[in-house]
Amino acid sequence: MNILGIETSCDETGVAIYNSKNGIIAHKLYSQSNLHSKFGGVVPELAARDHLKKIGPLIDEVLISANITKKEISAIAYTAGPGLIGALMVGAAFSHSLGLALNIPVIPINHLEAHILSPFLENKKLDYPFLSLLVSGGHTQLVAVESFRKYKILGESIDDAVGEAFDKVAKILGLPYPGGPKLSNLAILGQKNRFLFPRPMINNGLNFSFSGLKTCSFHHVKKFGNNEQTKADIAYAFQEAATDVLVTKCRKAMKDYKFNKVVVAGGVSANICLRNKIDNMVKKENAESYYPRIEFCTDNGAMVAYVGYCYFSLNKNIINNDEIFINHKLSL
Ligand code: KG4
Ligand code: ZN
Repeated sequence: MNILGIETSCDETGVAIYNSKNGIIAHKLYSQSNLHSKFGGVVPELAARDHLKKIGPLIDEVLISANITKKEISAIAYTAGPGLIGALMVGAAFSHSLGLALNIPVIPINHLEAHILSPFLENKKLDYPFLSLLVSGGHTQLVAVESFRKYKILGESIDDAVGEAFDKVAKILGLPYPGGPKLSNLAILGQKNRFLFPRPMINNGLNFSFSGLKTCSFHHVKKFGNNEQTKADIAYAFQEAATDVLVTKCRKAMKDYKFNKVVVAGGVSANICLRNKIDNMVKKENAESYYPRIEFCTDNGAMVAYVGYCYFSLNKNIINNDEIFINHKLSL
């Protein structure tokens, strides 16, 4: 059985094939970052139009790479939300049209669920239940994952998502879009003891707040200037503060809800500083940590194809009913 996965929620067109015996047998990703970088962020209409240009050719490439024909696709899974509406509509319309033409089921997938389950693509050892720390450009959530389809949000950001904060601070430091990974590289050159940023809401439940760190970075640039060393020092101080808060709350959720496994997923799970801190924390707590491989931390078609496979295997009879899936999954 081959499931075609299609991701178009933001500025990456991702396509992959998940094979029931062999896992991901092909995947391709086209990043629109060059298109948006001159605007300093994603322009939704340009994103939608570019997905439309790239999606067909990418599917052809993936089929060639997987060495299968369209007729060998058993079902199509696509990202239904959350995301940029125009970009999502391209993936939805394309998937439903292709499904109709091939007479195969089409499965809408929740983008957050796809991130949360993405570590299953790598880790044969991982099993339910676990705590998920979902850290992306649009969301920061601690989610209790009891089993497939049984999710409970334990805490989330009350303002900016952590990835959004990384991107906004990067912009303040004059780094080009997308800034998160660039800020993290700059932080390596930062001095450890020059600036100490606050740890927002660190002892206050399981919700997060990151917008104050952005303001703090802005005031530091105003006060101390923006020579290369100062920028690196601010990047370091910001990254330390943001990751300390994430790890502390993750530890609290593990203790409060008695989880001994944590899955970190979403774009910011590619951050090495965060991974190191999580790994040290779980070691001390005698627990385990799991991540997607680096290229599957940010948006991709592989995680969508995998979750599509999970739903397809669960109940082949309900997969044509969008209502059931959308209602269940967009409430995550
Ligand atoms: O999951 P994702 O691709 O898109 C959303 O679903 O939002 O996450 C993108 C976010 C961006 O904010 C990006 O700056 C951030 O993930 N990101 C990173 C790193 N790699 C990606 N942030 C910090 N360090 C990184 N290495
Ligand atoms: Zn994402």
